[in-house]
Amino acid sequence: MTQPVGHLRLGVNIDHVATVRNARGGDTPDPLRAAKIAEAAGADGITAHLREDRRHISDNDIERLMEGLAVPLNFEMAATDEMQKIALRHKPHAVCIVPEKREERTTEGGLEVAREENRLAHFIAPLRDAGCRVSIFIAADIRQIEAAHRIGAQVIELHSGAYCDAHHEGRFEDRDRELEAMREMAGFAHGLGLEVHVGHGLTYETVAPVAAFPEAVELNIGHFLIGEAIFRGLDPAIREMRRLMDEARA
Ligand code: PXP
Repeated sequence: MTQPVGHLRLGVNIDHVATVRNARGGDTPDPLRAAKIAEAAGADGITAHLREDRRHISDNDIERLMEGLAVPLNFEMAATDEMQKIALRHKPHAVCIVPEKREERTTEGGLEVAREENRLAHFIAPLRDAGCRVSIFIAADIRQIEAAHRIGAQVIELHSGAYCDAHHEGRFEDRDRELEAMREMAGFAHGLGLEVHVGHGLTYETVAPVAAFPEAVELNIGHFLIGEAIFRGLDPAIREMRRLMDEARA
């Protein structure tokens, strides 16, 4: 898949389509249908998080997404044996290792890689060997980024949650500090040879400064887009995000 130089990939996270479906049980709304609409609206990939408690995406959703998608699947998962087995069975294009339990998180909310380097290095090795691109969801923290690099991850996804929260709560000094930390760490990670993604909490209001990071290769956006789809439909909601990303990039 060739992309123009500097193209910023948009990964659409469809977890919360499954959240709405699961509120009633049954089959609707269907995450695969949402994913196909996202593809047609310009998503470069689909992201889905199979949580240990299966609160939204199900095993069957992953099965159907793997079969039905034309764009790559980014499979978000905790670093557990169960999830590793599922990932090795499906061999998605990418796996993104995320924290699910409080003790797996850094103070900023990303994965605590530095403290668990040895275990995580062994955990991701078979995923890499199976051909998955391994991404680690981490805070903009130099210790975590160096550790992600040492364990052999190819990609880091910077956690933009603190930046987005500060913006929407009107704490603009905090927001600007968080943004600056992400910008600096995007450059640092890129310098180590890591591919840089950014995600969590991004909205129309917060996306542009992040999309403008020259080192950013992919943004993963879910909750806001699925919410916005209630008001304007999923296709226009995604196209507007794409437009804002392209504008910021230009
Ligand atoms: N990236 C990662 C690693 C995530 O865990 C999530 C949330 O599942 C997202 C991006 C998307 O975040 P949001 O749904 O807030 O846009």
